[in-house]
Amino acid sequence: MKHTNFPLIAPSVLAADFANLQDEIEMVNLSDADWFHLDVMDGVFVPNISFGMPVIKSISQHAKKPLDVHLMIVDPDRYIQTFADLGTANLTVHYEACTHLHRSIQAIKNANMTAGVAIYPHTAANLLEPIIEDADLICVMTVNPGFGGQKFIENSYRKIEQLREMIVKSGSSAKIQIDGGVTNQNVKQLLAAGADILVAGNFVFSAANPKEVIAKLKRGK
Ligand code: DX5
Ligand code: ZN
Repeated sequence: MKHTNFPLIAPSVLAADFANLQDEIEMVNLSDADWFHLDVMDGVFVPNISFGMPVIKSISQHAKKPLDVHLMIVDPDRYIQTFADLGTANLTVHYEACTHLHRSIQAIKNANMTAGVAIYPHTAANLLEPIIEDADLICVMTVNPGFGGQKFIENSYRKIEQLREMIVKSGSSAKIQIDGGVTNQNVKQLLAAGADILVAGNFVFSAANPKEVIAKLKRGK
């Protein structure tokens, strides 16, 4: 089955100017972007610390589009209800961080959010087979998580194709999200491989005209 829909675009706020956060949020509000992608890092699960609840609370007061929170923290079950209370629409946890992944997914859904599962570049797609019908979103990390502005890992396409096959075969409604190093150089190939949602940090926020960059990505360009 050919996958032809235009993607959802989720600008990653990690690459925004934090000293002008409200302006950056308004830019996304006025753009063709679909979601806000918010990277939460704890300095343990990944070698960086980003931002946490107080910042997300401020963002949620201005954001007019759904919040997509990507947890890069150990033992994410501790904070599922907290992120629900902050107005999160989609909460993504890492396969590698969850001892009881199926339970974590159910807990996220029970808290009235959609549930995403992210995988490291070294984690094989077929490990997700047992939960492919439970997850609402699979986040394929196309850089090693922890930092924005890294180079896209080229051998990610095969994994995206494998996931697309797995989703079609199982009848799952899970969406495939791509996170890391997304630019106009790889957008077409990502969509051809089966991507549904593109996260883009530096490519959007470092651009002279971020709204135009978002509009183009949205059209697969
Ligand atoms: C990396 C984060 C990404 C990151 C993407 O750990 O999960 O969301 O912000 O940034 P770019 O698009 O700059 O690679
Ligand atoms: Zn992310």
